[in-house]
Amino acid sequence: MASSKDYNLGEFTFPRGWFMVAESAKVTDKPQGVRFFGQEFALYRGKDSGKVVLLDAYCPHMGTHLARNSTSYVAQDGAVEGDSIRCPYHAWRFGPDGKCNQIPYSSGPIPPAAKVRSWPVVESMGAVFVWHDAEGGAPEWDAPFLQEWNDPAWTHWTFDDLGRVDVHPQEIVDNITDAAHFGPVHGSRTQFFENEFRGHLAIQRMGGGHRTLIAEGGPMLVTEAVYHGPSILITRMSGLYDSYIFIAHTPVDDGSAYVWHALLVRTSDGSPATAQDNIAARQYQDVALAAFAQDFEVWKHKRPCLQGLFVQGDGAFLKQRVWYKQFYNPRARKQEYLKQVEGIHVPRGMEAAPEEMREQSEASLPMVANG
Ligand code: FES
Ligand SMILES: [Fe+2]
Repeated sequence: MASSKDYNLGEFTFPRGWFMVAESAKVTDKPQGVRFFGQEFALYRGKDSGKVVLLDAYCPHMGTHLARNSTSYVAQDGAVEGDSIRCPYHAWRFGPDGKCNQIPYSSGPIPPAAKVRSWPVVESMGAVFVWHDAEGGAPEWDAPFLQEWNDPAWTHWTFDDLGRVDVHPQEIVDNITDAAHFGPVHGSRTQFFENEFRGHLAIQRMGGGHRTLIAEGGPMLVTEAVYHGPSILITRMSGLYDSYIFIAHTPVDDGSAYVWHALLVRTSDGSPATAQDNIAARQYQDVALAAFAQDFEVWKHKRPCLQGLFVQGDGAFLKQRVWYKQFYNPRARKQEYLKQVEGIHVPRGMEAAPEEMREQSEASLPMVANG
């Protein structure tokens, strides 16, 4: 298993950005232990506010995991009280801000060090996202949200939980620049392909056939795949139906990631989705998942590509790897990387995306904070 250091990514082991940590529907007032970024967290939904809370897992009293317990009477009776959580060992209670707000058996003052870190989380499109930043800064951009989520013509997704894969996120992100895998892996005849790097966005515009997603002789598949930061990939796809593919991969330990997949699908005529449309959408999601599984299978069994033997026509891998470094280094150094890679890159021998498609990106993509 290769590490961030092996890929020479920068100062930090884990990147800066928004990361999916759970499906909203699975976060309840029963606390759960989760592991990301090489550390343990306690995740729960507050009973008063209904808000999701993500805390560092270990109690400052004696180091007990706040959420991996089922036998203590604290856990059996329900560890979440209002928006606070009680430690299963001696029942210290911590608020959603991470500060201890009650020690049931001690009348002395609560020591100021009796606190755990509380992480900034938001819920969007059925998922819980955390802003992770080794420097502890405020979010540099907003968590992803699609306007279509609130449009009744689009059926909401249900997540495919693909679990943990022991591959470094760099190998997954490489896919955004991989022009030459479409034919062999997905059966596409690529007609145009380009990448654009712009601030925290990495964009791929592609058009062609696709044996997994579109039957032979079907409409052309046109996709605009966008990394919104280092880990959340949202692909607008027109083909059989208009849809958005959502793929999130969140680092678990250095060299592994947890992966979710989902598909937001528009009804064919734009009318509000019915139960029947919902069934069709889930079937289409299964086909999209089959296409993703084609990539996934390669990643699962490959050895790390620390230095590729890249040739003409491969795509802008080296630029993409420089773009990706902005998230593994202090944000003060971001421009150093961006000025090497920003712009549109078309692999040799490949056609660029049509101008209308670029204009559409321009109109629909979120503005990039400070360039
Ligand atoms: S270890 Fe948490 S209250 Fe004692
Ligand atoms: Fe692929």
